[in-house]
Amino acid sequence: MIHRGRRLRRNSVIRSMVRENSLSVDDFIYPIFVVEGKGKKESIPSMEGQFYYSVDRLNEEIKELVHLGINSVILFGLPDKKDELGSEAYAENGVVQRAVREIKKEFKQVLVVTDVCLCEYTSHGHCGVYENNEVDNDKTLELLGKIALSHAKAGVDIIAPSDMMDGRVGFIRNALDKQGFEDIAIMSYSVKFSSAFYGPFRDAAKSCPQFGDRKTYQMDFCNGREAIKEATWDVEEGADIIMVKPAMSYLDVVYSLKGKFNLPIAVYNVSGEYAMVKMAAKAGLIDEGKMIMETLYSMKRAGADIIITYFAKDAARIMRGEYIDNN
Ligand code: PBG
Repeated sequence: MIHRGRRLRRNSVIRSMVRENSLSVDDFIYPIFVVEGKGKKESIPSMEGQFYYSVDRLNEEIKELVHLGINSVILFGLPDKKDELGSEAYAENGVVQRAVREIKKEFKQVLVVTDVCLCEYTSHGHCGVYENNEVDNDKTLELLGKIALSHAKAGVDIIAPSDMMDGRVGFIRNALDKQGFEDIAIMSYSVKFSSAFYGPFRDAAKSCPQFGDRKTYQMDFCNGREAIKEATWDVEEGADIIMVKPAMSYLDVVYSLKGKFNLPIAVYNVSGEYAMVKMAAKAGLIDEGKMIMETLYSMKRAGADIIITYFAKDAARIMRGEYIDNN
């Protein structure tokens, strides 16, 4: 026998030496849900282990993240009032705008990303202006530009549009540049599929469409080549980072984008993926810690440079040898 692959798997030193991919806290962006009110840290029922924070308690969480070496967050806001045009999304004193200012006041070095979308803010729950039984693309762009600018003025580092309207990257880039915010990067949810994996998030963010679905703007999960088309347009329009979402079932898409583009690729390890691992662990069916690492590494292997994940803190603890499995 000439070939014996087992020679390079004999012990952990050899395995580490030939390991092709690495994972680090530098890869992570941690999602946080911010709510109105005071003194709140409330657990999110559909996403065990995740919490709603009011702005005044947000920095408790940031402090813990920084302690674990995680220096990047993405913010989602839950306003008290929703309306047809999602006006709280671009209010100067909206919940996300205040959250950005609060974090930056105490933790300048923390990288703050904001999700730019309307679905958490509109009464109908769609990601844009709803008129004549459809989401109007070009009217939505105007609002997305306003949201992005309001986040920029609050001090955000990266804008992440997740609405899937056509032309939004170029529109937002232009809106930011015109106001002197040319240093703010855009991480585009370029390839966002219409997915059942967002279920727990929509429950958490109270952002489920009140009628219809998002299939006229989010991508059909049967398509792979269309992902290249969407990403190409975003890159042409000035995206700095492109994202694939969800992650686990779409690693083929990540792999194909990696071979085609030379800018950083992010994946969003979404709420349904998180919930599946959590629930299976709770049922005693899998080892949670091992499952977390295996899934995160699979994303790196496929080509992800950046991972947005609710598991960021768990993974950081695992890597530090401080993880406690509560199941
Ligand atoms: C907003 C948005 C969604 C998610 C991130 N930004 C929900 C959706 O598109 O319905 C999902 C995140 C997750 O499931 O963890 N449009």
